[in-house]
Amino acid sequence: MHIFITRPLPNIAYHLLDEEGITYTIWDKDVPQTREELIELSLKADGIINADASKFDHDLLEKLAHLKVISLTSVGFNNIDIAAAKKFDIKIGHTPNVLSQATADIAFLLLLATSRKAFFHHKRIINGTWGMFQPTGGLGIELYGKTLGIFGLGKIGLEMARKCHHAYGMNIIYHNRTSNEDAEKELNAKYVTMDELLKESDVISAHSPLTEQTKGTFNKDAFGKMKSKAIFINTGRGALHVEQDLIDALNNKQIWGAGLDVFEQEPTSTVNPLLYMENVCTLPHIGSATEETRARMAELAAKNLIAALKGYKMPAEVKKVM
Ligand code: DGY
Repeated sequence: MHIFITRPLPNIAYHLLDEEGITYTIWDKDVPQTREELIELSLKADGIINADASKFDHDLLEKLAHLKVISLTSVGFNNIDIAAAKKFDIKIGHTPNVLSQATADIAFLLLLATSRKAFFHHKRIINGTWGMFQPTGGLGIELYGKTLGIFGLGKIGLEMARKCHHAYGMNIIYHNRTSNEDAEKELNAKYVTMDELLKESDVISAHSPLTEQTKGTFNKDAFGKMKSKAIFINTGRGALHVEQDLIDALNNKQIWGAGLDVFEQEPTSTVNPLLYMENVCTLPHIGSATEETRARMAELAAKNLIAALKGYKMPAEVKKVM
């Protein structure tokens, strides 16, 4: 059996494939393969381990209908037309759970950094604008005892809620498709309507999957309902918020600040105004980027692929069309 791997992976994936006698072609160039290259390289493959955000739409999946499996090294699968994959009988694997703590670390890091304008102050040192001590300039806001609103309280949202609750005694409210009884018991988290989440939260952290229903949830209307001192954190997917509406809300001081690991378009443009705002901290989608987590993701992706090729139950198969 032979597979195509769209980006070089931590070694654990190759060890597992070697043990099973599965051979592989790895795309190791610094630019993503084009759609045509992806098709060509996948034609002789039985499966793909996909480690980038390539879009597998109906048309592409139809051309790749000979594949048994596409194994993602991500928990998110919004880049795959799951209904089409089912139609062409291609199994889809993903990597839930193994990246929850690392991703929540980035949400927490962005929250602290935003609340204290850390990236802005770092730029002052670099730009030579440190200048005089300013008793009233560049001030942050504190998090003690404030209310954290989680949009999408799954595994990552729960880790973020734990950190905020234990570090700052924050009250936890959340909005989800279903209630999360574990979080209610453990953190006294309270389920609220979307309107209540927007109006009552001092911090909103977005963790829900990107679906047709959640796309653009944080838009002009939503930002308009938030507190003027609120901080918006997004480590999920950029399209959960409407970028121009976020820029306007920050400029019009409808909300206080934002911490973003994700953008509508990735990589984002270097002239994106969000990169230069005093109350905004941005990162280039590094939620899962630790040695330990990336190794666990590669291991799970390889195990998903091997199971699908051998006809066993995959450890983490995407079954539902969201
Ligand atoms: C995920 O796993 O979905 C992370 O965002 C990395 O893409």
